[in-house]
Amino acid sequence: MQTVIKTINLRKTFYTGEVPVHALKGVDLEIREGEFIVVLGPSGSGKSTLLNIIGGMDSPTEGEFFYRGTPLQEMSRRELTMYRRRAVGFIFQFYNLMPNLTAYENVALASELTDNPLDPAAVLAEVGLADRKDHFPAQLSGGEQQRVAIARAVAKNTDILLCDEPTGALDYETGIQVLAYLHKVNREMSKTLVLITHNAAIGGMADRVIYIKNGRIDRIQENPNPVTAEEVSW
Ligand SMILES: Nc1ncnc2c1ncn2[C@@H]1O[C@H](COP(=O)(O)OP(=O)(O)O)[C@@H](O)[C@H]1O
Ligand SMILES: [Mg+2]
Repeated sequence: MQTVIKTINLRKTFYTGEVPVHALKGVDLEIREGEFIVVLGPSGSGKSTLLNIIGGMDSPTEGEFFYRGTPLQEMSRRELTMYRRRAVGFIFQFYNLMPNLTAYENVALASELTDNPLDPAAVLAEVGLADRKDHFPAQLSGGEQQRVAIARAVAKNTDILLCDEPTGALDYETGIQVLAYLHKVNREMSKTLVLITHNAAIGGMADRVIYIKNGRIDRIQENPNPVTAEEVSW
């Protein structure tokens, strides 16, 4: 299978306070096309930092990062913007929807940033929200808002979806439902999915689980038989 993302000795140090924080201390990682990857690790271990670099929202202090063989550290600002628009979709813990736009408008706005978007109404229907498309975020439950956020990321029609704790703010049942939609997008629409969580049970759904500890990959576990969202329990 083709490699979509590759990092070599990726390091990130934050110099904001008095003491430098070494958030990533040399991460070597390959993500293959269509994979479902779960990144597990305790709070503060560097998971979001890694995802933000992969998503082109932050740059590494050191190391190399390739998207389909193209080194990202050599990209101009403009090329990096194009990468963020065309290559990656982001799903956050707190949905980050625009409060003054309807579900449909939130999805349509994001799809305007890319060359080959999917139809917003069709994608909203895919996540079970056909009849809620004219509602504003405040009129939707947390799970529905997260499904709008999934639709927004999917409608960009990128090949990678990056999810940072997408079920972190949801109750158990709703969390399972959101995971089921993410699974569907990965399996049926062949999106490469990288999902951060601190919930070890979700690792059962992944093709590979990457355990991050203290800024490093501690170990990688292959899952020959990933389970469905409904089979996950915690
Ligand atoms: N923008 C930032 N400025 C300074 N320190 C940061 C920043 N982002 C993250 N860190 C620090 O880097 C470390 C890793 O953080 P993070 O990647 O958010 O961990 P995780 O997502 O695993 O909880 C933490 O010590 C955190 O405080
Ligand atoms: Mg985090």
